[in-house]
Amino acid sequence: MTDPRHILITSALPYANGPIHIGHLVEYIQTDIWARFQRMRGHQCWYCCADDAHGTPIMLKAREEGITPEALIERVAREHQADFAAFRIAFDNYHSTHSDENRHYATLIYERNRDAGHIARRTITQAFDPVEQMFLPDRFIKGECPKCGAPDQYGDNCEACGASYSPNELKNPRSAVSGAVPEQRESEHFFFKLGDFEAMLKAWTSSGSVQKEVANKLGEWFEAGLQEWDISRDAPYFGFAIPDHPDKFFYVWLDAPIGYMASFRNLCDRTPGLEFDDYWAKDSTAELYHFIGKDIIYFHALFWPAMLHGAGFRTPSAVFAHGFLTVDGAKMSKSRGTFIKARTYLDHLNPEYLRYYFAAKLGPGVDDIDLNLEDFQFRVNADLVGKVVNIASRSAGFIAKGFGGRLSAALPDPALFAAFTAAGESIASAYEAREYSRAVREIMALADRANQYIDEQAPWVVAKQPGREAELQGICTMGLNLFRLLIGWLKPILPGTAADSEAFLQVAPLTWADLQAPLLDHEIAQFKPLMTRVDPVQIAALLAASKEDLTHKAVAAADQGEILVRTDTSPHLLRDPIAATIDFDTFAKVDLRVARIVAADLVEGADKLLALTLDLDGETRQVFAGIRAAYDPADLVGRLTVMVANLAPRKMRFGVSEGMVLAAGSGGADIFILSPDEGAAPGMKVK
Ligand code: MSP
Ligand code: ZN
Repeated sequence: MTDPRHILITSALPYANGPIHIGHLVEYIQTDIWARFQRMRGHQCWYCCADDAHGTPIMLKAREEGITPEALIERVAREHQADFAAFRIAFDNYHSTHSDENRHYATLIYERNRDAGHIARRTITQAFDPVEQMFLPDRFIKGECPKCGAPDQYGDNCEACGASYSPNELKNPRSAVSGAVPEQRESEHFFFKLGDFEAMLKAWTSSGSVQKEVANKLGEWFEAGLQEWDISRDAPYFGFAIPDHPDKFFYVWLDAPIGYMASFRNLCDRTPGLEFDDYWAKDSTAELYHFIGKDIIYFHALFWPAMLHGAGFRTPSAVFAHGFLTVDGAKMSKSRGTFIKARTYLDHLNPEYLRYYFAAKLGPGVDDIDLNLEDFQFRVNADLVGKVVNIASRSAGFIAKGFGGRLSAALPDPALFAAFTAAGESIASAYEAREYSRAVREIMALADRANQYIDEQAPWVVAKQPGREAELQGICTMGLNLFRLLIGWLKPILPGTAADSEAFLQVAPLTWADLQAPLLDHEIAQFKPLMTRVDPVQIAALLAASKEDLTHKAVAAADQGEILVRTDTSPHLLRDPIAATIDFDTFAKVDLRVARIVAADLVEGADKLLALTLDLDGETRQVFAGIRAAYDPADLVGRLTVMVANLAPRKMRFGVSEGMVLAAGSGGADIFILSPDEGAAPGMKVK
């Protein structure tokens, strides 16, 4: 083997406003397999990722939930990392773009590009929401399609007829945030002069840094001309302020890829001997690869290398783009139940199954990959359970029973073992080239040969014939050695099953080099089933649960039974998981009162809200509560509830909300407003 390589790899940073779904997992599984493979080969491979925490959608989502963006991204970061860990995605570091390191490098890269003359400033006209006092990104403007007249279309393209247009062509435009009619307003923006980097980008592109299909696409973009890129956004915006311009922020995509650096910096700072410059300095000899989906090629193959170059950093060794996941041949669909969240999958199926299935389908190109659920079940059962695990279970029992768990001292068929080990380099080259489907094909062909060997040797027959004990031990030793090679080669794909197999074989974690020599004269542990079959019932349950998720989407994070406080300002539950404790005096300031619901009305334009009219012993308050899914308004009238009476009034789209009612439950239809015992009366203090 050559000297260890020094490799830094990344997956795209998932947005911090939604859960990880199985589409995302194509990428994280693809990257993780590559990282694990490199480490097994004895190379140094650091795998860094982070949450992409900035931008308008995250700011608005937090507002909708009635929490701060910081609280939202903190919660989502925990959810994302729990999901990734369960799928055995072994990041060396998982950070956030909302971090000190990222602020540092975003500022540095911006300032160096600015000082080198690569930043332009000019005034542009943009849609502005006069109610929310904010500029509106295209996707937050809705109206009628200028082509076909379909209502309720987004500002960039029509879902009904497919036309694309600019938001000021929309008829009857409305802000999707407030419903107000957008105005046109001027503002000065900052632009990254991508055109300055044309020669450098062409050279980088043609140096083998991108796949062929991607190079072709880039060729089209070069042909069309490289446009200046708008990198600033006006307040309010959740992101980093631009140096010397406190009301202007870096556009989320400016600091997102810098998050790769920030995550690595964070890792360096707690890893003795790991030097940031060795990986990022202009003269770095380390390898740097970004795994991404094909939808974000423009950012990674044009803006990112240009920004790095302009700031005096090295450029990526390569960008590896993959295709999109479809389920049963179609785009993931919420109504069909094929929009499957990572968490929902984990509730029903073993993550190793999905890792295997994706690997069996993944090639080095940008083709979409399909999760065919029937094929999924068939392949996992036939290949993993029927072929690989079966070899071990057919051999292990005899070794345990007849030989005290001890393998024989020599292999009866060294030629067959040698034929297997000879395949190791071909399998390695398949992994290296991201041809996982080829690696799987080659491994499964060998699994067939191993099963064929056992069929021919028929240990169950030999076992019945006295005097053939040594032969029996040899056959089973052979079987277990072939199994060891197969599971070793599958280890990047099946880390959990491989770890269980290592425990069963009583060996140290397998490296690629270990797979040259056989395991002989060695005691193994009791065999336990390494994997169970996929049951179609589990798949049906997964699809049903994914449909179910639809009705509970408002509160993905809320746990059953936890006390939740509903905000009057939002149809969502307010639950700030990192809220610090409050002292008694602060608590004492909260004026909790019993109130009688004298009216409960639907709110036009807000299908999750009810407008409650509350009587506090003569004083009447109006409060908006997000309990529409849980209560028929008629059932509420006359009932008592508990409210926060001294909450500052808040102006909402529908009117002013003058307090907040308290509720418990997991959300959706499962939400109960708190009702005091009989004997309570409107106006009473609750404490
Ligand atoms: N935040 C940006 C990436 C910034 S990288 C500096 C983003 N986030 S994302 O959450 O939308 O997507 C994360 C990754 O998952 C992207 O590479 C994207 O292509 C990939 N996928 C998202 N949905 C996917 C499928 N349905 N199928 C395959 N990959 C998918 O983009
Ligand atoms: Zn249309």
